[in-house]
Amino acid sequence: MNQTNAGTGTALPDVWALFSVRDLSVIVTGGASGIGLGFAEALAQGGALITILDMNEERITGEVARLQKAGYRVRGTKVDVTDHAALDAAFDAAEAAYGKIDVVFANAGIDPGPGFVAHGPEGVTRNPAGSLESYTDERWQKVIDINLTGVFATVRAAARKMKPRKSGRIIITTSGASRTIAAGIGAAYMAAKAGSAHFMRTAALELAAYNITVNAISPGYIVTNIGGGHAHDPAFQAAFAKTLPMHRVAFPVDLCGAAIFLASKASNYVTGQEIGVDGGLTLGTAD
Ligand SMILES: NC(=O)c1ccc[n+]([C@@H]2O[C@H](COP(=O)([O-])OP(=O)(O)OC[C@H]3O[C@@H](n4cnc5c(N)ncnc54)[C@H](O)[C@@H]3O)[C@@H](O)[C@H]2O)c1
Repeated sequence: MNQTNAGTGTALPDVWALFSVRDLSVIVTGGASGIGLGFAEALAQGGALITILDMNEERITGEVARLQKAGYRVRGTKVDVTDHAALDAAFDAAEAAYGKIDVVFANAGIDPGPGFVAHGPEGVTRNPAGSLESYTDERWQKVIDINLTGVFATVRAAARKMKPRKSGRIIITTSGASRTIAAGIGAAYMAAKAGSAHFMRTAALELAAYNITVNAISPGYIVTNIGGGHAHDPAFQAAFAKTLPMHRVAFPVDLCGAAIFLASKASNYVTGQEIGVDGGLTLGTAD
């Protein structure tokens, strides 16, 4: 039963309905691992209809089977986000399977270190292997193709499906690297994430009139399989945690709240925003 807000006279929504993702058709690129898998699993648990798009077929098979066994409505397709025709076809297939596309997470990304510094037991040292002079065209282009152009192609595919229905939610995974420098990763990653963040704002402005919101989740240090899975090392986690304002690293589950907020009616009037979920990482060092 809705109550009335005495101040405005408008009806207050049911708070559970506000955050509901039930029966929403959701696409997650890079959804077979790490942050994307966390998004997929959280929304599946909330009753959404999930399509995982990822280039790792083995992981898709394993995770889709695991989630289906848990009773969730999940399907998956092997797609490389740099293959734009295949990406468009996968959106067509998701729409055919679930009848619509409500929410799209443009999340697939890579972190091909090294950067110009290395973090080791002796602290931060310069790493010539990751310097600008050593940076190849191929490496630059690969990161841009996946982490920036792949986001563009995913958002374009989403807009094509959502605009005729005048409804949709697009959520891009950026990074603290869109605003600060993660010098251990490499130059193209910063450029791609900053580009994704600003692209998010222009897409949000263009699509707002069609009731499509476009926002970003900007994670801090999250334990996933990125960069070869180095973040799984407990010694590395403990050392890194000391440098973080909240004194702990994060896991994909720490991003679920932001994902549900941005996918649900709770964020109805929020667009063009980059929400940092980083435990204060981008604020600076406190201790
Ligand atoms: N882990 C972190 O600390 C962190 C921090 C900030 C931002 N991010 C961003 O989060 C996103 C997800 O990364 P993650 O940490 O979960 O890594 P992850 O490696 O665990 O998962 C990434 C998934 O994307 C898939 N993928 C990679 N390239 C692809 C392509 N060309 N086409 C389709 N799928 C592809 C991989 O197969 C993998 O399943 C990335 O955009 C990354 O830049 C991660």
